[in-house]
Amino acid sequence: MITIAGQKGGNGRSVTAVNLAASLALLEKRTLLVDCDPRACSTLFAGFGASTLSCDLSSVLFGKVAPSDAVFKTRLRFMDLLPASFNLFHAASRLSLNAGNERILRIFLRELRAEYEYMIIDSPASYSFLTVTALAAADWLLVPFQCSPEDIGDFTSLLRMVRHVRSNFQERLKIAGLLFNRCGSREEIDRFLAGNDLNGVENIVYKSFVPGDDAIRAAGEDGKPVALYDVESPGARAYLDVAKEVISSFN
Ligand SMILES: Nc1ncnc2c1ncn2[C@@H]1O[C@H](COP(=O)(O)OP(=O)(O)O)[C@@H](O)[C@H]1O
Ligand SMILES: [Mg+2]
Repeated sequence: MITIAGQKGGNGRSVTAVNLAASLALLEKRTLLVDCDPRACSTLFAGFGASTLSCDLSSVLFGKVAPSDAVFKTRLRFMDLLPASFNLFHAASRLSLNAGNERILRIFLRELRAEYEYMIIDSPASYSFLTVTALAAADWLLVPFQCSPEDIGDFTSLLRMVRHVRSNFQERLKIAGLLFNRCGSREEIDRFLAGNDLNGVENIVYKSFVPGDDAIRAAGEDGKPVALYDVESPGARAYLDVAKEVISSFN
């Protein structure tokens, strides 16, 4: 289980969740995308409008349906979706009243574990109950990162939150890697890493990076992973490379 995490909004968590999940699926890995953000961006990017769904992750967290009943098939044979809606906000408000409920997503997803090789969880940008819940559900974190000094401060906050989750909910949570998003070139990334102190995490940076690519934005608006929008686009190629790197890192 991999949670796509990061403190700052707009640095590509949802885009990465959808496109990594889709690329893993194109490589014939059975993949579940779990949207744990009430903004439901990855649900939209995966092709599901908010009002078109009979149930979603909030229904599972409220105990109304079993996790498997809230799983939807996507256009890709190997990719399923456990979607979000704004009701997740209400579920979180209620669940956060009781300490320990941060483990709930991990417990529910355990029921689906045998069916998938990868579960990719999209998380909100904040210090909220749902963010901790998404981190506590994961074995690994993948952190989208931009070549901006601002992201270093956000990353430091994320590391604090990871420590909190490790000591309270999931002691084996590990960082799989930083994925540079919206970067022009490998040289730009190397210059950035050389010029900034990243607390030793520079050795867990993915070799692949995601360029700024209009096809990524347009695909999201069209409710499609970029590989189904334009398979030849730099964004689609990049996410396939990222998926291959993720697969080989777990082999
Ligand atoms: N590499 C990229 N190229 C072009 N647009 C991107 C790229 N990464 C993200 N975006 C756009 O930026 C916006 C925010 O991305 P998103 O994944 O929703 O961020 P987050 O989930 O971290 O808040 C979206 O509209 C998305 O289309
Ligand atoms: Mg998002």
